[in-house]
Amino acid sequence: MIQLHDKRFKLFLQEEEIMAAVKKIAEEIAEDYREEVPIFVGVLNGAFMFVSDFLKFYPYPCEVSFVKLSSYRGLTSTGIVETLLDVPENIEGRSVIILEDIIDTGRTLQELVHLFTSTNVKEFKIASLFYKSEIYNGEYAIDYFGMEIPNNFIVGYGLDYKEQGRNLKNVYELHPDQMINLVLFGKPGAGKGTQANFLKEQYSLIHISTGDVFRYNIKNKTELGQLAQSYMDKGDLVPDEVTIKMLRDEVEKHPEANGFIFDGFPRTVAQAQALDNLMESKEMKINATIALDADEEVLLERLLNRGGKESGRPDDQDKDRIKNRFEEYNTKTAPLQAYYESQAKFHSINGVGAIEEITKRIKGVIESLRLVEQ
Ligand code: IMP
Ligand code: MG
Repeated sequence: MIQLHDKRFKLFLQEEEIMAAVKKIAEEIAEDYREEVPIFVGVLNGAFMFVSDFLKFYPYPCEVSFVKLSSYRGLTSTGIVETLLDVPENIEGRSVIILEDIIDTGRTLQELVHLFTSTNVKEFKIASLFYKSEIYNGEYAIDYFGMEIPNNFIVGYGLDYKEQGRNLKNVYELHPDQMINLVLFGKPGAGKGTQANFLKEQYSLIHISTGDVFRYNIKNKTELGQLAQSYMDKGDLVPDEVTIKMLRDEVEKHPEANGFIFDGFPRTVAQAQALDNLMESKEMKINATIALDADEEVLLERLLNRGGKESGRPDDQDKDRIKNRFEEYNTKTAPLQAYYESQAKFHSINGVGAIEEITKRIKGVIESLRLVEQ
């Protein structure tokens, strides 16, 4: 176990396993390029160790150069890839083989391909030591890779977490125990949004609001968004399968997350099971479900006072409609409560009082789970 900044990592790959992967790539490339003198282009900073060891395993004449790009800031890909060091000169008519440390979403790779399309190279290939095939969604096929790895955040052997860990001989992965995955329940007006924001800040969690995820997919006409739309157009409910796939995508966008807050899902026991399956497939689990409890009369008052102004929901102004939504919540949440109680994960929080008071109560639950090590 090692600690870098605020995070703990556990051993994932030993030096020998990494070396075997480096050697494998070097041998494959040597086989393909022995007749010519290729130019290897390492991608800084992460690939420096890989390039160094790779070259020691490469037996034939070759040249080496570097480019520098940057897309990660801390743990999350910013999605913005900058060029900090440009393509080498004299590459016209030559075979260029990019040496990357890791391929994740493929954004960096896309930028690299772009960089080299304007050059007149004879051939352009990609070799990456690590390849997160589950999350990669680029069009470019990876020509050579050392090993496929799961979608976890790793450090060591050139790879960093906030610039630390590059010097490690072994590769480590983020310790999963530190994750906090929550499901948040709350009646309309109970302050779910406010509390979700607090949790997000306090514990660096990713808030997955199912409504937002739906709107995002539909607006951007993603494959899943179009599929969902096709059901909606027919006046049908979107099948759970489609929703869970959207949630899976969201989870996969954040391999580095400290945890997730699920909001608006699950709404049925079948959905709760599907969520458990999703978590399990990622070697994660729901740690707790928190229900913000409040007297309906109090909530009714709150909502009517707000007059739907804050939420922008016109049905926040109509007493009967609000009552219907309460009723719907009660009928739907009751079986879920039983489901999560059977796993000893259900926590009901008194949702009446000052925002900070409620926040404190939620914090109490999380701390009591001993999920957070200060
Ligand atoms: P992509 O553009 O999403 O494919 O990300 C590629 C770049 O992000 C790599 O060159 C790394 O610098 C960084 N990166 C991606 N995954 C990890 C990881 O697990 N640990 C450390 N850095 C990573
Ligand atoms: Mg890199």
